[in-house]
Amino acid sequence: MLESSNGVRDRGGDRKAAVLHERDGVPRYEDFPDPVAGEGEVLIEVKAVAVENVDRAVAAGTHFAGRAMMPELPAIPCFDGIGTLPDGRLVGFGNPRPPYGALAERTVIREGAYAAIPDGLDPAAATVLPSAITAMSMKVAAGLQPGESVLVQGATGVAGRLAVQVARLLGAGRIVATGRDDEQLRELGADQVINTTLDDQDLLLAYAESRTDVVVDFLWGRPTELLLRAMVPDTFAFPAPLRLVQIGEVAGAGLHLSAESLRTSGVEIYGAAKGLGPETMGAAYGQVVEWARTGQLTFALERVPLSDIETAWQRTDLRGKRLVVQV
Ligand SMILES: NC(=O)c1ccc[n+]([C@@H]2O[C@H](COP(=O)([O-])OP(=O)(O)OC[C@H]3O[C@@H](n4cnc5c(N)ncnc54)[C@H](OP(=O)(O)O)[C@@H]3O)[C@@H](O)[C@H]2O)c1
Repeated sequence: MLESSNGVRDRGGDRKAAVLHERDGVPRYEDFPDPVAGEGEVLIEVKAVAVENVDRAVAAGTHFAGRAMMPELPAIPCFDGIGTLPDGRLVGFGNPRPPYGALAERTVIREGAYAAIPDGLDPAAATVLPSAITAMSMKVAAGLQPGESVLVQGATGVAGRLAVQVARLLGAGRIVATGRDDEQLRELGADQVINTTLDDQDLLLAYAESRTDVVVDFLWGRPTELLLRAMVPDTFAFPAPLRLVQIGEVAGAGLHLSAESLRTSGVEIYGAAKGLGPETMGAAYGQVVEWARTGQLTFALERVPLSDIETAWQRTDLRGKRLVVQV
């Protein structure tokens, strides 16, 4: 039995995996020692894995959970995916034991750290469902009621496109989609679009006029700072509080929130995890699976084989398509 520098035991078998050797490096398709299931663990034969911004941030060490998920290198990136259990059941799994990750032919997880994937669902399509479940936070965290208006801040990404559809399916009255690209924004079927590259004054005005009840925010940074500033009323009228769910930060990790803005607008800000527990998660998952199976929730995938990981990891041309590695 061989032991590698980070203590991985190799019982002689190697399998292919995407292996990361340097923080902020690019994973390479190569052999990696086969995982061995310890007590309370189970092996997974991986079928499909979505590569998302969060996976790159974990690999780069810039995500808050990055060190825990990938304490040492070499290691295999990505912390969830779709695969089969030893008895052949197809499941969505999470949190492989480091240095193993999801981007491999085989990985190892804690017994029970998986959920069944319903019959008939394509494993690659199933990798996208967690992003749709996150969009359900407009109801779970912010309590969206049918007829209320929703603004999707950052609607042209995969998660944003799903959020526009989820808002419609949850009965939102009016949907506003924001983003940087007019052509992509027009594809979304929203009732109103706002281009976040407008100059500050025009963007403030556009947000102020959008009259929104709930915001699902994938951007943070400058656009969301302006959105919150736009909620300050110009009279002593009673505010109609905006409920904002914070989900992503592609436009910036921080923003300036003035006391006046918070005090006068009545804005409420929640994290996407608010209200999530086994019961609400199960209900959101069931709903999203049903919408996907019946074709009410649609999304575009870019499928690549594991052997192409080095090129695929560096792609920036996906324009709203989820990169899914098929194993
Ligand atoms: N917490 C969760 O469970 C969860 C789940 C899903 C997603 N997220 C987060 O949500 C965010 C979006 O995820 P995704 O998977 O949809 O990503 P994605 O498909 O890669 O899309 C990224 C989006 O961000 C936009 N964007 C990038 N930089 C921007 C900037 N500086 N200003 C304005 N827009 C910018 C892009 O717009 P262009 O088209 O103009 O380039 C694109 O619409 C990420 O932060 C992700 O980590 C969180």
